[in-house]
Amino acid sequence: MRQPLVAGNWKMNGSRASVAELLNGLKAGMARVKTAEVAVCAPAVFIPAVQAELAGTPIKWGGQDVSVHASGAYTGEISGPMLADFACHYVIIGHSERRAYHAESDELVANKFSAARAAGLVPILCVGETLDEREAGVTEEVVGRQLDAVVAHCGIDVVGEGVIAYEPVWAIGTGKTATPEQAQEVHAFIRARLAAASRSVADTVRVLYGGSMNPNNAAELMLQDDIDGGLIGGASLKATDFLAVCSAANR
Ligand code: 13P
Repeated sequence: MRQPLVAGNWKMNGSRASVAELLNGLKAGMARVKTAEVAVCAPAVFIPAVQAELAGTPIKWGGQDVSVHASGAYTGEISGPMLADFACHYVIIGHSERRAYHAESDELVANKFSAARAAGLVPILCVGETLDEREAGVTEEVVGRQLDAVVAHCGIDVVGEGVIAYEPVWAIGTGKTATPEQAQEVHAFIRARLAAASRSVADTVRVLYGGSMNPNNAAELMLQDDIDGGLIGGASLKATDFLAVCSAANR
């Protein structure tokens, strides 16, 4: 039985005031969340405030990116040990925005996955195709390649210590959600791909859906056999919306 996980990806949003308001709203409303594990992935500067507010609550927190290096002369980077020092549980790896705007290659993403594990963090590995790739019929080829790179570098057992997030790029921030059938098809593919290396990892690893998931579509997506929760962008910035998505996993 895989416990659903709903993780908020705040991306580059928020202020001290809005973060305080959001966290208060989440804490106040958590009683309605019965089944899902809940996490928020915050911009690095807000992580100390997140830790201060969420320590002792059931809500976990994490970063949005991690350096491949543990420390040293890497201006602007944040390391795994730094995130761990602020009790981060998760870190997002290989988000499509980082692949696209920061030229992160499959190889770099694989290195970040192992750097996160080395620091004791649980990586949330993002994979997904662009609209052009979907229309060209190469969705499985792209997602398979993105997964294989991490499996080859880290080994299947280490991949099994993380979480996978299928995020079709065309559904991110566009209001265009993959249909439950479209999402389920790729989630099943991801599980089958992992099963080729390890049946037990494929059976236990959580595969989240991300891309315009919101209170209106979350329940139907999460009813699919291979969808184990969500990675939520826009709808994670408002406590009522995020809690509604989290409670859509109630069973
Ligand atoms: P939206 O929910 O805003 O589409 O973003 C999804 C996402 O990229 C989460 O990582």
